[in-house]
Amino acid sequence: MAALGKDVKVLVVGAGAMGSGIAQVAARAGHTVYLYDGRTEAIAAGCAAIEKDLKFLVSKGKLDEAEAEATLARVVPVAILAGAEDAGLAIEAIVENLDVKRKLFAELEGLLGTEAILATNTSALSINAMAAGLARPGRVVGMHFFNPAPRMALVEIVSGLNTEREVADSLYATAREWGKMPVHAASTPGFIVNRVARPYYAEALRVLAEHEAEPATLDAILREGCGFAMGPFELIDLIGHDINFAVTKSVFEAYFCDRRYAPSQFQQELVAAGRLGRKTGRGIYEYGELAAKPVPQDEPPQDGESRITVVGDIGAAAPLLARLEAAGIEVRRESGMHGRRGWMQIGAARVALTDGRTATFRAVEEHCPNLVLFDLCLDYSTSSRIGLTRADQCGLGALRAVAGTFQKAGFKVSVIDDVAGLIALRTVAMLANEAADAVLQGVASARDVDTAMRYGTNYPKGGPLAWADMLGAGFVVDVLANLKEHYGEERYRVSPLLRRKAYNGEALYD
Ligand code: NAI
Repeated sequence: MAALGKDVKVLVVGAGAMGSGIAQVAARAGHTVYLYDGRTEAIAAGCAAIEKDLKFLVSKGKLDEAEAEATLARVVPVAILAGAEDAGLAIEAIVENLDVKRKLFAELEGLLGTEAILATNTSALSINAMAAGLARPGRVVGMHFFNPAPRMALVEIVSGLNTEREVADSLYATAREWGKMPVHAASTPGFIVNRVARPYYAEALRVLAEHEAEPATLDAILREGCGFAMGPFELIDLIGHDINFAVTKSVFEAYFCDRRYAPSQFQQELVAAGRLGRKTGRGIYEYGELAAKPVPQDEPPQDGESRITVVGDIGAAAPLLARLEAAGIEVRRESGMHGRRGWMQIGAARVALTDGRTATFRAVEEHCPNLVLFDLCLDYSTSSRIGLTRADQCGLGALRAVAGTFQKAGFKVSVIDDVAGLIALRTVAMLANEAADAVLQGVASARDVDTAMRYGTNYPKGGPLAWADMLGAGFVVDVLANLKEHYGEERYRVSPLLRRKAYNGEALYD
């Protein structure tokens, strides 16, 4: 399906943060863009914001001056909607209120040609609800940009039950023409990104509420151990706890209070206290000149072992061995028991990748008191930090020797409490689980889910389904089952798709 021609005029309604950004993107791609807002002063402010950003891009050498001027000239402020009646595509970015948006679409339907596309930038409202009652619901589609629209590549093209396929396909092709990374999604609560990302925040808030890790340590493990651009707490502080809590609540309610999406009571209290994050000077962290910089727990330098033994196959952690060897540590290999996951013997400790059980429980089950567990790194060959924990029965000396061995290989080591699934693995397993359910429920293809998570949230290379494939679906299922056993909660319910792929030994990301 072809993209809309450059001769198609675009109307953007709402000239706030998103509307002005979207207008800039469309104008830069060569369309004439009508910019309208219910408040006249907002139109001028929107145009000024576009001009300021274009000038910034020129100053950085990312845009030449003539192109910036031509882009700005293509943005036409309109004082009344009737001034944009020849637009072929309208994108609304007004207040997030269903009734107000429906009223606007009814007005636009009467004003624009019968072939015009009515797109909404809503983050949360149903495309079906927005199209209901219109004469041409097939022309209504979601075109969900991310903030700031000129910088963020992802655009979710969201189809309702009545959206014509050619409308969605044409906007998909158009978004590509505009230099964006589009994905198709079905109109379901949170679409792709705002749904699949929920566990990134939820798992962190839960661990914090149960006093099992310091925020700075948890953030550092996900950032430096897995390559996430920001840890969950610094990210929520940036987004604002009020907004993050409201999105979680809306997804929870839209899924008829499925406990899988239950909001955090602890976060509710933060919101009630006005600790909304950066914008109020305090959220999880404190901000301002006098605020102390958060410091993650770092194990002081310890003596490591110069020789270790690997028993069996340590699965996703295997790249660790080459790194230990490169650091001059001798790695002896022994075959393990068929069907059982391998481990490393480092000094007095048996050392294994967490599998969703606590170290203390696992030490009893495996009759091995000196058990140390390590956390997931998405890339063990390059990550700079790793989380460790020990069973209650394990001596401190045994743990220190393990920490020292990892330090020899260049890891910073954070020792945390005996949290089930530690930090990174439980988070990644839950993201993969949510992504699998989104695919199962037809929200989007596996490819589009991973693309959306990478480009809409800057997740590390791959995406949740590719990570699950790297870990093995069977392992992820075991981790989730162990978490469910540990907490006894629906939150950790395994996606039937993940289970099926595990049984069949198939990949999730096709
Ligand atoms: P904003 O508050 O910055 O701008 C909204 C603009 O719409 C205001 O200038 C307001 O005067 C105007 N407006 C309100 N009702 C109107 C009406 N009936 N007719 C004409 N103009 C009207 O809001 P923002 O952040 O730009 O969000 C706009 C939409 O984009 C919302 O639906 C929001 O959920 C969605 N969105 C927001 C994102 C964000 O990070 N801010 C990200 C993705 C989507």
